[in-house]
Amino acid sequence: MFTIITGAQFGDEGKGKIVDMMASKYDIVARFQGGDNAGHTVVAEGKTYKLHLIPSGVLFDARLLIGPGTVMNPGILMEEIAMLSGNGVEVTPAKLGIDAKTSIIMPYHVALDGLRESKRAIKIGTTNRGIGFAYVDKVGREEIQMADIADKNRFMRKIEEIAPQKEAAIKELGGDPGIARSEIKDYLEIGRKLKPYITDVSKEINQALKEGKKVLAEGAQGTHLDIIHGTQKFVTSSSTVAGSACAALGVGPTKVNEVIGIIKAYITRVGEGPLPTEQKNQVGEHLRDKGGEFGTTTGRPRRCGWFDLPLARKSINLNGYTSLALTKLDVLSGLNPLKLCIEYDLDGKIMKYMPELSDDIAGCKPVYMDIPGWHEDISDTGSFDDLPENARLYIELIEELMGVKINYISVGPGRKQTLMK
Ligand code: GDP
Ligand code: IMO
Ligand code: MG
Repeated sequence: MFTIITGAQFGDEGKGKIVDMMASKYDIVARFQGGDNAGHTVVAEGKTYKLHLIPSGVLFDARLLIGPGTVMNPGILMEEIAMLSGNGVEVTPAKLGIDAKTSIIMPYHVALDGLRESKRAIKIGTTNRGIGFAYVDKVGREEIQMADIADKNRFMRKIEEIAPQKEAAIKELGGDPGIARSEIKDYLEIGRKLKPYITDVSKEINQALKEGKKVLAEGAQGTHLDIIHGTQKFVTSSSTVAGSACAALGVGPTKVNEVIGIIKAYITRVGEGPLPTEQKNQVGEHLRDKGGEFGTTTGRPRRCGWFDLPLARKSINLNGYTSLALTKLDVLSGLNPLKLCIEYDLDGKIMKYMPELSDDIAGCKPVYMDIPGWHEDISDTGSFDDLPENARLYIELIEELMGVKINYISVGPGRKQTLMK
């Protein structure tokens, strides 16, 4: 059984919560792309865990894997392992496997990310974690991999080969070229500690699937931040759509059983780029305050807006969702009426489907349908049938308009605050 979960919007849809909720039924939970730009929140037994690299199934018995399509900052991983240990959750090599080919984020990637962004006239609003520059090196075939930092000779050879051009690049952007050879000792020390965690992720997953085990692939970021299909240039540097899980984990597409999209009952975006239904008003403030819409990784306030169907329709195509989990429905309590963007008006042309180009998306004016809201607090609701009638109507309407079934409805950050439909 192979399940892929991805975010259907611009990230922060609640993937961490849903993966945690599902993880007890899985034997393996694997991250397949992105890096510590991700911030996945798991709330369990009165504690809140903010995970950047470790898959969100960590609180259960599942084996955790970090695949070779990810970019991993080893210092951040060690901090996360220590944080979990401090909370009584031991992440041993029996628990976590890191692919030998996982790209390593080096100090020069982080430096270049910050320097380049500061020079951009039109900013992307990156998380400043070196993600883009680490992927540039992967594609440019100059990456340092997990196996390299665990082997001093190989690591030093690579640094010697790569450092001169990093020094030049940093210097050109006005930074300190010394960064190119910084933290070598720390990396080697962490590499030594992480050596026992090294594995072949594709081999492990394929073996598990052959044995009839259940594997969950946990996406990071969101569909419209995809490097190929997203709102360029305001995207992340990896492929965030479901198909990427197969390519990045080394699992054939014939093995996929289900693809679950995590979608918020409204929309948020952190960083720059078009967001047609953005509400820079009291509605936006309601969503931000009530939804706690501040970046898990950067603390930046998230931009908030109404649910966007043309965007969701494209997500459904890009991922091939077999079902959806609708999150943060509780945040809509108290807004009346609710608005649902059913189509866009682009210079007089009505569009039910999101256009391809960012400039066109930025020019789209949402066409809204008003829907009666509800005032009740629904965060303690025990079942779908117990929701206020207007909340049920809202869910059923978007389900019908999207043409994909909504199996889970989340009404709060906790595990129990999830309703089956
Ligand atoms: P992820 O990146 O997709 O894992 O999402 P984040 O963890 O960055 O952001 C989601 C935030 O919303 C976290 O603070 C979660 O604890 C919280 N959350 C998740 N589901 C719900 C929900 O249904 N209602 C409310 N109010 N909060 C939720
Ligand atoms: P999770 O997994 C929301 C955004 C950044 C920026 C753009 C590029 O928690 O949903 P990057 O640092 O990746 O080069 O930044 O992508 N971004 C996210 N937004 N959630 C995330 O992850 C994100 N990861 C990156 O804000 O706009
Ligand atoms: Mg997040």
